[in-house]
Amino acid sequence: MPQTYRFFATTAKGMESLLLQEIQSFGAQDIHETRAGVYFQGTLELGYRACLWSRIANRILLPLATFAAPTPEKLYGGVKQIRWSDHLTPQNTIAVDFSASTGSATSPRSAITHTHYGALKVKDAIVDQMREIHGERPSVNPTQPDLRINVYLNNDEATVSLDLSGDSLHKRGYRKEGHLAPLKENLAAAILMTAGWPEAAKKGASFIDPMCGSGTLPIEAAMIASDRAPGLARAFWGFTGWKKHEPQVWQKLIEEAKTREIHDKKLLPTIIGYDADFNAVRESINNLEHSGMRGKVHIEKRDWSACEPVAPHPLAAASQPEQGPLGLVVINPPYGERIGEMEALKVLHKDIGDGFKKKFKGWQGYVFTGEPELAKVIGLKASRRFVLFNGAIECRLLKYDLY
Ligand SMILES: C[S@@+](CC[C@H](N)C(=O)[O-])C[C@H]1O[C@@H](n2cnc3c(N)ncnc32)[C@H](O)[C@@H]1O
Repeated sequence: MPQTYRFFATTAKGMESLLLQEIQSFGAQDIHETRAGVYFQGTLELGYRACLWSRIANRILLPLATFAAPTPEKLYGGVKQIRWSDHLTPQNTIAVDFSASTGSATSPRSAITHTHYGALKVKDAIVDQMREIHGERPSVNPTQPDLRINVYLNNDEATVSLDLSGDSLHKRGYRKEGHLAPLKENLAAAILMTAGWPEAAKKGASFIDPMCGSGTLPIEAAMIASDRAPGLARAFWGFTGWKKHEPQVWQKLIEEAKTREIHDKKLLPTIIGYDADFNAVRESINNLEHSGMRGKVHIEKRDWSACEPVAPHPLAAASQPEQGPLGLVVINPPYGERIGEMEALKVLHKDIGDGFKKKFKGWQGYVFTGEPELAKVIGLKASRRFVLFNGAIECRLLKYDLY
């Protein structure tokens, strides 16, 4: 029987239940949702599968130990209790990510508040133990270490984990530049899942993002429709330098993912990204080229005023009107001071509402915004409102049924 592990998948606040459903679909057992993450159990293959296939997670952690750490010395002592020789050799490189849950400035949740100092203590404990046993110590590589160690401190209790993802999973490995304000890829996936895109795509519904910026939503929509593993283009993982890594298990998953991906464009729905800005279009095309979704997404420079619905895929036309929308039009309009000014943005939001109503009959419209004032100007009644966080900004995904 292969060994069973207990994993922890992290995500952004508000995306936990989507993550839970996703992890469940991977065949995990004993799944528990908690703040900003989900615990689950399974074999190493399941942990690898979560790394390769999770569209919603930030990181997949493998917790090694939890202990009281009210002082730097106790933290050092607790980390030294872990048998690091089980996980690495002195020739390996390491990095330590240390975070502490925040209380208020006057009453922090833990005594150790200085995360750099915490990370240093953890690193010292690991290298001291390795030097005592082997006479040599691992060195530090902050960017691409063989082993990334994650320490989370909450109410003076430390949890030490291995970070199997190695880097945040929202990085799909295709984004090369970015002077725009892109959505994180896992937030884009959360928007699409909340909007029912996976089911709609299977029924042949079309997808348009009329303000696609760097192309995050249409690229993610194409990955979902193609059953493409979101991690397939990533070059770096946190487990390849780990002593217990099982390369043949990982390789099997890669082969499986390659076989699952749908390449026949006739089987895929129409997916479009428009933007009025030339630089955005250029960046979208560049991202598309590197994402493996080339040929599956149409990108074009076009203003919202010229955006029209496209004919549905034969699958969708045949299933109308009982079985769902003809298409989804999903907009993440500019907001805040970073990109546009308020008055112009109000006009744009009013135009969004007008365009939805006049042109997109039989479709579902979605607007993702962090500006309640602008949302009001759309002038249509949202049938549902979902809360999702874009970093620290509380945003709404507003759903409009366009009859
Ligand atoms: C917040 S950004 C979208 C970011 C995108 N979701 C991403 O992940 O990269 C908003 C985009 O709307 C575009 N935009 C603004 N007004 C527009 C209009 N009238 N027609 C089309 N695009 C417009 C901007 O050029 C900008 O790229």
